[in-house]
Amino acid sequence: MAANWAPDSWTAHEARQLPDYPDATALKAATDALRSHPPLVFAGEARNLTAELARVAAGEAFLLQGGDCAESFAEFHPNNIRDTFRVILQMAVVLTFASKLPVVKLGRMAGQFAKPRSAPTETIDGVELPSYRGDNVNDIAFTAQSRVPDPQRMVQGYAQAAATLNLLRAFAQGGYANLAQVHRWTHDFMGRSPWAKKYAETADRIGEALEFMAACGIDPETVPQLAQTSFYTSHEALLLPYEEAMTRQDSLTGDWYDTSAHFLWIGDRTRFEGSAHVEFLRGIGNPIGLKCGPSLEPDVLLRLLDTLNPGRVPGRVTLITRYGYDKIEAAFPRLLRTVTREGHPVVWSCDPMHGNVVKAANGYKTRPFDRILSEVRAFFAIHRAEGTHAGGIHAEMTGQNVTECTGGAIDVTEQSLGDRYHTHCDPRLNAGQSLELAFLLAEMLNAEMAERRRAAA
Ligand code: PEP
Ligand code: CO
Repeated sequence: MAANWAPDSWTAHEARQLPDYPDATALKAATDALRSHPPLVFAGEARNLTAELARVAAGEAFLLQGGDCAESFAEFHPNNIRDTFRVILQMAVVLTFASKLPVVKLGRMAGQFAKPRSAPTETIDGVELPSYRGDNVNDIAFTAQSRVPDPQRMVQGYAQAAATLNLLRAFAQGGYANLAQVHRWTHDFMGRSPWAKKYAETADRIGEALEFMAACGIDPETVPQLAQTSFYTSHEALLLPYEEAMTRQDSLTGDWYDTSAHFLWIGDRTRFEGSAHVEFLRGIGNPIGLKCGPSLEPDVLLRLLDTLNPGRVPGRVTLITRYGYDKIEAAFPRLLRTVTREGHPVVWSCDPMHGNVVKAANGYKTRPFDRILSEVRAFFAIHRAEGTHAGGIHAEMTGQNVTECTGGAIDVTEQSLGDRYHTHCDPRLNAGQSLELAFLLAEMLNAEMAERRRAAA
């Protein structure tokens, strides 16, 4: 257990990116209500995830983390949950089939509401209002009333997270994720994509393998794991009053866990030394992530790792790099070498989204797909050069057929961005682009595995 820590010890530290709630009584009423709500996840599940991530850190598995930039109250619909879940399943199948490594599936889902912003206010046509900070803080509509932080939104966020998680658990364990359904996880709108065809071929080969195994007596009746999968949830632990209210002492171990999700991460804007967010996350038992952007110096990272993982528990920390396609080669090798030299057992995951945002000529915030792929390629190449494991991917994506990132096999052009641009924050990969990314990842992971086998022979 962390020394000198309590769920509220963060309040004595510098907290950036938190809303100023105008009504302290209303804030207390909301957090008191949350304190009496049941935990969303159980500490034992968080420990299982740490154990799975330890395998990733050891080079024996791959982490696939993905979902919305920001979940929203408006887009809350079972079909949206199902579609994102199934594109994650598709990606996992493609990755496992190519690399023969197990894939740890972690959704940016069931609680990913709060957003850090680059500026505290937003100005449109000469009107300046507080920025939108995510649906669990304020409303995206550009009116003074909508932008006032409302603590009851945390309670609504909890309810939506609970319902989402309930459906995800049902999908993961109730038969939807049965490998025998691998052909059914496709999306109609992907019909034209060459990657949909490639996916169908992979699914055929998996189907054949399953038939062969069934003939040998190995089927979901004899091996129930074939009909199920494990699926975990995660979000940025940004809104500390909410996270504190969801933090409970585990009755089995006496340790504290943030029960709002299995995995929580610290964003690039709040990971400075001495921050309230670092203070909060150092005391919870969950596996945690840390975003590593261009301004993070190796010596600062080492001190953060000593604070967040003094016991050097493998799988406890995932470092999520997010440099930008044109910055990763200059900045990442130094960080990787330092952490490797010091022997920290971390998972390295690549977020190729947050360093690659551009503004299209028509004003839409977008991300060119070729830049995303280029950052992923560089991430893998640097790991290969250093002999370390490119452990994971962190993507903003949806199972919907949106037009938010430009490029991909079914080319989204700058002109077509307006067709189906639905995100409440950053542009997401659509289902086709996500699958295309998975095939590229599979190729690179396969190359890493082949090289390791050569080195071992
Ligand atoms: C995010 O993951 O949505 C995010 C805000 O990322 P970062 O902290 O890396 O900018
Ligand atoms: Co984002």
